[in-house]
This record gives sequence, C-alpha cells and structure tokens, in this order.
Amino acid sequence: MSTLALTPAEVADLRAAFPYFAARPADGGAGPAYLDSAATSQRPTVALDAERSFLERSNAAVHRGTSGAVGSATGAFEGARSAVARFVGAATPEQIVWAENATDALNAVALGMGEASAARSGGAGAAQLGVPGSERFALGPGDELLVTEAEHHANLIPWQRLAAKTGATFRYIPVREDGTWTIDDARAALSERTRVFAFAHVSNVTGMVAPVAELAELARSAGAVTVLDACQSVPHIPVDLESLGVDFAAFSAHKMLGPNGLGVLYGRPETLAALPPSRTGGSAITKVTMEAAEFMPPPLRFEPGTQPVSQVVGLGAAVGFLEAVGMDRAAAREHELVERLVDGIRATPGLRLLGPADTSQRVALAAVAVDGLHAHDVGQFLDEQGVLVRVGHHCAQPLHRALGMASSTRASVHLTTTEDEIDRFLDALRGAQRYFGVEAAA
Ligand SMILES: Cc1ncc(COP(=O)(O)O)c(C=O)c1O
Repeated sequence: MSTLALTPAEVADLRAAFPYFAARPADGGAGPAYLDSAATSQRPTVALDAERSFLERSNAAVHRGTSGAVGSATGAFEGARSAVARFVGAATPEQIVWAENATDALNAVALGMGEASAARSGGAGAAQLGVPGSERFALGPGDELLVTEAEHHANLIPWQRLAAKTGATFRYIPVREDGTWTIDDARAALSERTRVFAFAHVSNVTGMVAPVAELAELARSAGAVTVLDACQSVPHIPVDLESLGVDFAAFSAHKMLGPNGLGVLYGRPETLAALPPSRTGGSAITKVTMEAAEFMPPPLRFEPGTQPVSQVVGLGAAVGFLEAVGMDRAAAREHELVERLVDGIRATPGLRLLGPADTSQRVALAAVAVDGLHAHDVGQFLDEQGVLVRVGHHCAQPLHRALGMASSTRASVHLTTTEDEIDRFLDALRGAQRYFGVEAAA
C-alpha cells in the first residue's frame, strides 16, 4: 500500500460521512456495491447540509438588491466560486463560470464561438455583438475543429454542430485498437488550420489519462484553443488547470460529491473575455437599450437569470470535503483500487478490458466486455447481486463502434470505494459467465 493512500480505517471513516454508505439494509447485509461514481457520485452529509442550511437560513436572490440578506447570500455564493477556483488552480474566481452541468459548459464554448462566427459572417463584428475581441473565435471554411474518437457525446456533438454552422471542417483523432490515442497522433492531426482542439483529460470509457500540458502546448503552438473535458479528472486526481495551460475546461458538480444541476466552465481570463455569451438575459449586462445590450465581464456575463445558488453553496462544501481528505491521498487510494480492478479483469478468461492495461495511464474506472454476453444482461445480473455499475455505450458510441462493440460494463471507483466492492464486482462478472454458460477456458 502506498504511504500516501488513504488507509482502510480512513476509508471507513469517510464512508460514515456519507448517508448513502452509512445506511445499511435492515437485514444487516452489505448494502449495494456502488461502482458508478463516474456517472454520479454520492454526497457527504456536509455537502447536503450546506445546501439545506443555506436554504433554511440564508436563501436570497444573489447579486440583486441591496439588503443585508442579499449581501450575505451573495457572499456564500461567491465564496464557493473562490473555493472551486482554488481547488482547480484557477488564478482568480472570475475564471469560474457556473453552468447547468458539464454538457452545458461545453456547449457554452461551442455556441459562443458560433455567435462570434455568425457576427463576422453577417458583417456585424464584435462591436455590435458587444464583446470586444470575439473575432478570435470566428470560424469559417478552411478552419478546422479537432476532437478525438474517444470523446463523450457532450464533447463531440457541440463541435460537430459548430462545424456544420460555420463551414469549418470537423476532424478527429482515431483511437487505436485498445481505445487509446497518443500525443504523436495529436501532433499528426494538428495544423495551422486547427482553431479548436477539444479532448477529455480522462476518458469515461477507457480511463485513459491524456498528457494535457504537452497537448495544450502543442495546440498553442499551432494557434488552436484547447477545450478540456475534465469531468472524470477533477473528482479523482489533483488538477491545476492554470499549469496545464488549457484555455477552457468543463466539469460537473454531481460527479465530485456535489449537487445536481450545476456544472463549471473554467476559462483563461483573456479567452473568457473574448467569448460571446450564447444565452443572454437579466443580470448579465451593464446597459440595455431597445436596440442592443452591453455585457458584464466574465463570469457574470455567462450567468443570465437566477443562479443555482444553493447548489453552488453545496459544491463549495463538497470541495472543502475533498480538500480536507487531500486529492493526492484520494488519487493514491483510487489508483490502488483501479489496479485491483484491472488485475482481476485481466486474470479472468472471457473478459476484455477496454483501454490501457498499464494502470499508470488510467484513472478511476475500468470498462469491460464479457465475451458472449450483451452488456445489458451483465448489468441485470450484477444488479441482482447488488453491484451497481453502468452498462451501455456511456455516451461514447463512436468509441464503442471503433472497438467493435455496441456497449460495455463499466465499474468506477471513488475515494469511498472498498476492496470488497471491487471483489464483489469481479465475482459477479464471473457469476454472470457461469449463469449464462459463457465461461471461457483459462
Ligand atoms: C467525460 C465526460 N464528459 C462529459 C460528461 C457530461 O457530464 P454531465 O452529464 O454532467 O453534463 C460526462 C458524464 O458522464 C463525462 O463522463
């Protein structure tokens, strides 16, 4: 066991801090083996309580009006922004924009670029759009958008749509046989025509960790903006977006022990300042006439309408919880769990591991195909054993297609996961093989 990793006793204490894990079935059984944190994580009492106590005692319309109640609610709201900024290594809280979820955050970037492109092609330009500098995001024929074949649909479809709208060319880095791709693949695909390079820090199917800092540097030298899908990295490993050097990044509160209905868009100050808002309305503006509007600087420019205030406060508390544990210790612990998971899968004939076999290149999850079985049959069998995983295409159809399958079974861990849960998953997979009569010879 790594000296850095959380000890089993510490994991037991952590689990006691989550109502979901602390509650046991009345028959005293083990309870569900929750291995679906990559889809959504369970929440500690401290995050649930922060949201509830804000609503019970401090609820008010933030950034509106002059009352003391509004001032203290706004303080809690902005305090959480500062906490999230610190957590992901943003230099200032203004680099953190609230969105509905990561999907919404990624769309905000692609749609904003669409606004800039439409303004240029309509002859309006940045002045009329009210966002100085937005020309840098105007795309047209001859420009290229680059993604990878491994992307979640949330980091794929917005770019396909942007290409279709602007006439830019949509390109992708194909994955290799095991679903991975390399920096050399990226080097070969990037050119001076590439304007945007969007990719996941950690794949939600293969668990592959991309070498973000090197990729961002490559993209920058090609003149491209980097958009990082950090959904599966921020909840599991220390992430310093400033030193990674990406222009934009997106992640979801509900995957990092926080509430639903809240996502985060991170941006470098100069890139956020030049991005037009794709949604507009009240409280995001400085001046409105019957002809036009002038927008606030980021982040409020991107937050029109009434904000998800209690969720933001809940996320602030979730981040505090993660910081108190220490992301380096959580990451070391999760690495051990992933090794156990991957070793168990590889040791079982008839199971095909998706993604890198080298666990130093993977974070927090492993997806598997069971020879001779549809993932939904596997999922149903596992569910009956109380093992909760995700089955299906995990919103990554092109990746599954490239791997020659329609779906897979994914187990994902978090800092509360136990060895016993991993073993229950592996035993249940072997049980499914026996039950359906598809055991493979060793
Ligand atoms: C890699 C990745 N990107 C994007 C998303 C979308 O996140 P959300 O559904 O919270 O918007 C997910 C969620 O599963 C994901 O795993």
